[in-house]
Amino acid sequence: MKIDILTLFPDMVRPFFEHSILGRAKRDNHITVGIHDFREYSVDKHQSVDDTPYGGGAGMVLRVEPVVNALRAVDEEHTALRILMTPQGLPYNQERAATLAKNKHIIILCGHYEGYDERIRDYFDVEISIGDYVLTGGEAPALVVCDSIVRLLPGVLNEASPEEDSFSRGLLEYPHYTRPRVFEGRAVPEILLSGDHAKIEAWRREESLKRTKKRRPDLYRKYLEKRKNR
Ligand code: ADE
Repeated sequence: MKIDILTLFPDMVRPFFEHSILGRAKRDNHITVGIHDFREYSVDKHQSVDDTPYGGGAGMVLRVEPVVNALRAVDEEHTALRILMTPQGLPYNQERAATLAKNKHIIILCGHYEGYDERIRDYFDVEISIGDYVLTGGEAPALVVCDSIVRLLPGVLNEASPEEDSFSRGLLEYPHYTRPRVFEGRAVPEILLSGDHAKIEAWRREESLKRTKKRRPDLYRKYLEKRKNR
C-alpha cells in the first residue's frame, strides 16, 4: 500500500513510520510512505496556507490552493482514496479500518487552524473523525488511521490473521496473563495453566463476551444483533 500524508508538520509525522511494526512494514516494503509539506504548494511569496475567514470571526481557515496543488502533485489522475481528517467526519472504527486497508493508495490530509475552506471537501472521497473531541491538528488522527490500517495488511503481523482479533468480530479482547503465576496474591486463572486448549478457547470466548457486555453494552447489542441475522 502507498500512503501519502499531507501535513504542515512533517517532522511530527515522520518518526511514526520509523519504529516498531510500522517501521518494519516500511522496511519490508509492505508500505511506501510519502510525507508532504503542503506549504510547498502555496501560491504566494509568503508561502501562506491559511487566511482570515470571509464574513469575519475568530481563527484562521486553511486555503484551498495549497491543498489541491499538493493533491495533484501526488495523485494527478485521482486514483488514490483521498481521506480528510476532521472532527466532522464519519466515526472511525475497526470496520472502517478494514475497508480502508483494501486500497492500494491512500492520501490523508491533516488539517490545522480553525477549519478548512469548504471547497477543499470537494477534492476528497471520505472524511473521518477519530472521536468526539477536537485536537489541535489532524496529524495524530492520521497516524491513528495509518496504524490501524497497516497492521491489517497481509504479512505485516506475524501472528494469526488480525481479522481474528476479537474486535474484528465486534467484541473486546479476553484477559491476557504472562509470568509470574502469582503477583501480590493475584493468581493467573487455573484454566490457563491446564493445557486443555479447547477449554481455554471456551473460557476466552466467555470472558470476551462478559467483558464486552459489561464495558461496552453498545457493542454487545450490535454483536447479538449481527448473530441473530446470520
Ligand atoms: N482533527 C481535529 N480533531 C480531529 C478528530 N477528532 N478526528 C479527526 N481529525 C481531527
